[in-house]
Amino acid sequence: MYARITGTGGYLPEKILTNQDLERMVDTSSEWIIDRTGIKERHVAAKGETTCDLAVIAARRAMEAAQRNPEDIDLIIMATTTPDKIFPSTACLLQHRLDIHGCAAFDVQAVCTGFVYALGIADRFVRTGGARCALVVGAETTSRIIDWTDRGTCVLFGDGAGAIVLEESEEPGILSSHLHADGRYEHLLNVPYGISQGFDKTKNGEAYLYMKGNEVFKMAVKTLGRIVDETLVANNITKSDIDWLVPHQANNRIIEATARKLKMSMDRVVVTVDMHGNTSAASVPLALDAAVRDGRIKRGETLIMEAFGGGFTWGSALVKY
Ligand code: ACO
Repeated sequence: MYARITGTGGYLPEKILTNQDLERMVDTSSEWIIDRTGIKERHVAAKGETTCDLAVIAARRAMEAAQRNPEDIDLIIMATTTPDKIFPSTACLLQHRLDIHGCAAFDVQAVCTGFVYALGIADRFVRTGGARCALVVGAETTSRIIDWTDRGTCVLFGDGAGAIVLEESEEPGILSSHLHADGRYEHLLNVPYGISQGFDKTKNGEAYLYMKGNEVFKMAVKTLGRIVDETLVANNITKSDIDWLVPHQANNRIIEATARKLKMSMDRVVVTVDMHGNTSAASVPLALDAAVRDGRIKRGETLIMEAFGGGFTWGSALVKY
C-alpha cells in the first residue's frame, strides 16, 4: 500500500508587501533584495488574521481538488511554527473549523522543513494502515515573529498556507521521505524566547526571529545537496529520472544551487519565492499547488521536494505525482 497525493490547495493573504513598501520601512533597496534573494513581493496576514484562517482556505481547496468531504478525513497534520494559540494545537482548531470530528489531529514544528516532516509522518501513517485519507497542511503567519526594523530578516518572509490530501493507493505516490535535524546550530537561526524559558528578557514581551543569514545560507546549500544525493541513492534512480524540483522557497540562489546539483534546468524547477517570499512550512505545498493548478506538474511525473530550516532541520520526499 502506498500514500498518494489526490488534491492540493493554497491560500495567500490579500495584503501584498512589495520591495518598494520595504524601502520605505528600512534601509534597503529592491535591487538588493532581488539580487540577493529573488524576492519581489510577499503576502502578509491582516490584523487578526491567523494561521488557522489561512489553513482553512488552503485545506478546503485541497479537499475540493481531491473530491473529499470532511467525513472522509481521518488524520490532520499541521506544520506550523506560528500557531494561533499555545493550545489547542492549530490542527485541532482547523479540524473544528472544517467540521471534522474524532480523527487524530496534531501540529508538527520543524520550521521551514515542517511540511516535509508532516508529509513524511502522514505517509508512514497511511502506509501502515493508521489512516486512509490524511489532510497535511503547512501554514504560517511568520510576519508575527519578524522584527520589522531588522532589514536582514524582514525582507525575506511572507505568510501563507498550502495543503494536500494524501490517500491510500495501490499506485505509488510518496516513494520515500528523508527527515533530519541537528540542534547544534540553534544559535544561527532561532526565536530566542518562549513559553517555558519565558519572555522576561524581551522588550515589551515581543519575540522575533534571529538569523545569521550568510552562515545559514552556506549550510543550506551544502545540506540540500547532500539530501538530494541521499534521496536518489535510496531510490536507486539518477538525476535524469526527476521531472520536477519543488524546493523550499527561501532564496533563489539556494534553489539554483540545488538545481545545478541535480543538473536540472530552471524551467523544471518550481519557483514562487519571487511572489511569496519565504513562507516557511507553507512554501513547499504552495509551490506544489501553483505548479499543479497551472498544469506544469502532471500525473505520473516524478518530483523531488526538499526543505531546510530552523533547528537545523532538513528533509526531502520523492513523489510520483
Ligand atoms: N538591504 C540592504 N542591505 C542588507 C540587507 C537588506 N535588506 N540585509 C543585509 N544587508 C547588508 C548586510 O548588513 C551586509 O552589510 P555589511 O557587509 O556592510 O555588513 C551585506 O548586506 C551582506 O550581508 P550578508 O548577510 O552577508 O548577505 P547575503 O548575501 O548572505 O544575503 C540573505 C543575506 C539573503 C539573508 C542570505 O544569507 C540568505 O538567504 N540566507 C539563508 C536564509 C535561509 O535559507 N534560511 C533558512 C530558512 S528560514 C527558517 O527556517 C525560519
